[in-house]
Amino acid sequence: MSEGLITAAYIIAALLFIASLSGLSSQETAKQGNVFGIIGMTIAIIATIGAMVNAGDAGAWSYTLVAVLMVIGAAIGIRLATTVEMTSMPELIAILHSFVGLAATVIGFNSYLDHDILLGAAKTIHNVEVFLGIFIGAVTFTGSIVAFGKLSGRVNSAALSLPGKNWINIAAITSSVLLLVGFISGGWGLTALILMTIIALAFGWHLVASIGGADMPVVVSMLNSYSGWAAAATGFMLSNDLLIIIGALVGSSGAILSYIMCKAMNRSFISVILGGFGNEATAQNDDQDYGTHFETSAQEVADSLATAKNVVIVPGYGMAVAQAQYPVAELTKRLRAKGKNVRFGIHPVAGRLPGHMNVLLAEAKVPYDIVLEMDEINDDLSDTDVVLVIGANDTVNPAANEPGTPISGMPVLSVWEAEKVVVFKRSMGAGYAGVQNPLFFKENSEMLLGDAKASVDAILQNL
Ligand code: TAP
Repeated sequence: MSEGLITAAYIIAALLFIASLSGLSSQETAKQGNVFGIIGMTIAIIATIGAMVNAGDAGAWSYTLVAVLMVIGAAIGIRLATTVEMTSMPELIAILHSFVGLAATVIGFNSYLDHDILLGAAKTIHNVEVFLGIFIGAVTFTGSIVAFGKLSGRVNSAALSLPGKNWINIAAITSSVLLLVGFISGGWGLTALILMTIIALAFGWHLVASIGGADMPVVVSMLNSYSGWAAAATGFMLSNDLLIIIGALVGSSGAILSYIMCKAMNRSFISVILGGFGNEATAQNDDQDYGTHFETSAQEVADSLATAKNVVIVPGYGMAVAQAQYPVAELTKRLRAKGKNVRFGIHPVAGRLPGHMNVLLAEAKVPYDIVLEMDEINDDLSDTDVVLVIGANDTVNPAANEPGTPISGMPVLSVWEAEKVVVFKRSMGAGYAGVQNPLFFKENSEMLLGDAKASVDAILQNL
């Protein structure tokens, strides 16, 4: 493969990745965006192998190793993609980010040991690339593992609050900067790299462990961004332009997404990327008496829907768990056929990944134009006859409007303003952030306890 052809292939792949990101920004074009990404990645892999052949310094053994690793990687990827449940996607994404971080760390050490013949400015620039690549990679690696643990329920999702946690973070950053200075000017060599790696691994762990369950959406997109910067740093180390471009695309789009999520959740961007800097620990008084709740039946809900004119459906993580989107779509169709105004209210962090509810509703063929964002529907809730809260909890919790809870300050759907609210869930338990929900005990709230899919199916039979 000629040098010119490889450069052309890299440019085409980069353009396809940009088209892919642009396609992924809307539901209607998301599939097309995925196709652009797949074609771009195929071109990138072929061109990279072409560049390896051109370099001519790899033996037959290297090609065999690359082929074997590609087959193993593809087999694992296909298996994961075909078997993963939609509800497990966030933790899968988190663990995949940890691989990017680990790869950047390992390549950083390899690149340092491999380039000891460099001199002068070239050596300094390369050392800075190596140092930053390993630092970002190591932070991403352990941070992503903690995020995986929290999202999959393997570790407690509550925010860790070590005494002087902000000082721990400041000490980690300051000592890493000192090690960088020693590494590039004082000839501290491998010792500085190893020490910084240990600090960065601990820093990544502490950074994500300090962020509470309710803020995990921002953490996922933030780690996505870090993994992009780690890949870009690796691109600099390997002098691979395409990897620099892809890393910068992933890094900046992840950072923009984190910013959007922070705005949606009314969180400080700086505070979240610094592991909850400036946030005081919040405690929830679990002994509080919320009063009594009222339980209803599928028949009673069907009767309420029969007389309602305006209905809003607010789905949450429980709809994904129950796979209730299909009966919910059928219920919507039947109610609309009776002339009722049915709309959906989607909270920006409902479910476990950005756009989770939109994907499920699109899969069940709910028309896009009745699926509204929280800000578009919140003002209409007071004029709504019945709100069906299907497996949502934190995103409809009025406790968010009070101080002193992990979700305080997060905007929520004010479903309690409707004439009647029916909450579909299996128990009276709390949501993801572990905060009890006073909505369940309001006078106009009714609980339809049970699996959401079975409950909606039962309503359909009674309608
Ligand atoms: P959650 O607060 O997670 O509550 C979901 C509710 O669904 C639970 O209270 C659960 O109650 C119920 N449920 C579970 N399985 C069910 C089933 N089979 N049938 C009926 N109900 C079922 O939901 P949410 O309102 O969507 O809020 C999302 C939370 O996740 C937020 O705190 C958000 O910050 C966090 N988070 C979001 C993301 C993104 S990017 N969206 C990522 C990570 C974390 P029972 O157990 O009693 O049934």
